[in-house]
Amino acid sequence: MEGGGAVVHPAIGPLAYLLGTWRGQGEGGFPTISSFTYGEELNFTHPGNKPVIAYSQKTWKLNSGEPMHAESGFWRPKPDGTIEVVIAQSTGLVEVQKGSYDAENKVVKLHSEVIGNASKVKEITRVFSLVNEELSYVVEMATNLTDCQPHLKASLKKL
Ligand code: HEM
Repeated sequence: MEGGGAVVHPAIGPLAYLLGTWRGQGEGGFPTISSFTYGEELNFTHPGNKPVIAYSQKTWKLNSGEPMHAESGFWRPKPDGTIEVVIAQSTGLVEVQKGSYDAENKVVKLHSEVIGNASKVKEITRVFSLVNEELSYVVEMATNLTDCQPHLKASLKKL
């Protein structure tokens, strides 16, 4: 499998559909900011025989290609259908997300358990769904001033 490991850990099997590189576009907004669009690439690899998927994301401005937000981390699915995800963002914010996956419907739902080094963000939820071979997600957040509301949504195709 990708990353040079010879063995796919059985815990990764239900999420193996994620492995690879995805590219697409998204749009963002929030009550306190102007809305925007972005290009995005996601990369999921299985580094070897451990129950972990390595995740990295980068985004860019559609008109200029100039880099925007980036993040990376590790997804750790468990055989019981729960999952934990750790993410470090280019803004310095770190997240521990916990949630569940539905292997049959190819949906992963995450909710922040820990957010660190954030000046405004209080809560983050992320939902990923595979529909018609497109991976789409919605990220919602709550800040010190605003209840949990959508910040990002995007749709990506596997390369
Ligand atoms: C603004 C958090 C991902 C682009 C913000 C703000 C916060 C935030 C707290 C300020 C909101 C306010 O002032 O009330 C987050 C979190 C993210 C995330 C927690 C991931 C979970 C992204 C991504 C992009 C992005 C992926 C770009 C592709 C922006 C832009 C603004 C913004 C353009 C407006 C900046 C401005 O007007 O000064 N984000 N963000 N964010 N975010 Fe994000």
